[in-house]
Amino acid sequence: MRMYDCISSKKAGRELSGEEIEYIVRGFTSGEIPDYQMSAFLMAVCLKGMTEQETLSLTMAMAKSGDMLDLSPISGKKADKHSTGGVGDKTTLIVGPIVASLGVAVAKMSGRGLGHTGGTIDKLESFPGFQTGLSEEAFFSQVNKIKLAVIAQTANLAPADKKIYALRDVTATVDNMSLIASSIMSKKLAAGADVIVLDVKAGSGAFMKTKEDAIALAEMMTKIGNGAGRQTCAVVTDMSQPLGYCIGNILEVQEAIEALHGKGAKDLMDASYTLAAQMLLGAGRAVDFKSGYELAETAVKDGSAFEKFCEFIAAQGGDVSYAREPEKFPQAAVKREVRAKKDGYIGAMQTEEIGLASLVLGAGRETKESSVDYSAGIRMCIKTGDFVAKGDIIALLYAGNEAKAAAAEERFLAAITLSEEPVEKSSHVLAIL
Ligand code: URA
Repeated sequence: MRMYDCISSKKAGRELSGEEIEYIVRGFTSGEIPDYQMSAFLMAVCLKGMTEQETLSLTMAMAKSGDMLDLSPISGKKADKHSTGGVGDKTTLIVGPIVASLGVAVAKMSGRGLGHTGGTIDKLESFPGFQTGLSEEAFFSQVNKIKLAVIAQTANLAPADKKIYALRDVTATVDNMSLIASSIMSKKLAAGADVIVLDVKAGSGAFMKTKEDAIALAEMMTKIGNGAGRQTCAVVTDMSQPLGYCIGNILEVQEAIEALHGKGAKDLMDASYTLAAQMLLGAGRAVDFKSGYELAETAVKDGSAFEKFCEFIAAQGGDVSYAREPEKFPQAAVKREVRAKKDGYIGAMQTEEIGLASLVLGAGRETKESSVDYSAGIRMCIKTGDFVAKGDIIALLYAGNEAKAAAAEERFLAAITLSEEPVEKSSHVLAIL
């Protein structure tokens, strides 16, 4: 087999066999296939597309390029959720404890933030002492004991994806649906859960800008998951504005704690209950979506989800007093008020730009090596459709110094549009597949 022939076939729009795709993934991961040939192949995929069978083969080849986690030492069905990436998305911190408090095992690997999106691991590390690098044995034992553990993705989880993603990033080949679907699903399949609930984002802060494209991506990923023998479903949610009100590690942890006390923003609560309901349904803990949703609401209302959260933070070495008294978290040195420049209704938001403003404040990572400022971020006071008068505070920016806050303010204001006409408030959950 020759890489030249594979590139040539794809350029002509032909379907590659499973063996050819395995050859490409294996060869590129081992270093036998050079970057320039892989780049040509990825571009041919972007221009000619991949069939369902090719996408499944690519996913499986990438998943098997490293460790395939065997979660069988954990009893019962293991449920996982995955978001395709958004701004202000702290749902794992809420959904994990809800589902675990209802007896379903959540053995989760999460990532760190990169670019405009945040990561669950950074948020959890806001707790002094919290450990994200448990041994496999400790990970299994914690889930068996308390039903919930969240650890950082191990280095050998789908290494082919890591290498291919780095190349896609610099060759303008990120935005192909088959490549996105196989990248995400390879990691999910390697992480071993029986039940996978995907939260596919649509809008200005997401890879998929329209609901239609997000549904198509969701359908592709659920087919891959089910085709690989995992029970997979998807929820399409709105990312045309940040989820909830807070962006930034400590701010999001504090908002998640409020949500676990039942006092979260409407969109955040709806997203969390919907995802939890799908996980409960998939794991057989709920008979239908409605009863799953109600079970999730009850777990928040009766305090069991919050108690599970505290148990989880303590089990991984975190100082749980911060969960019980979230005002203990350190505050940023600078707190800057952003005010509306005129009267109007909050219209379209450039959500990715808002994520980048929080990066400027220090909340995120520009590169994998960057360090994060846990107390930096944005507390928004508005949602799309709200009316604001000139001079009203629309957001609070938290930063380590004035220069960062000033730079972020400019960026933040440019990302918000004010309309003279009323703007309709849309629902957060756009589709359930
Ligand atoms: N997230 C991933 O892990 N891979 C992609 O290709 C896009 C989003």
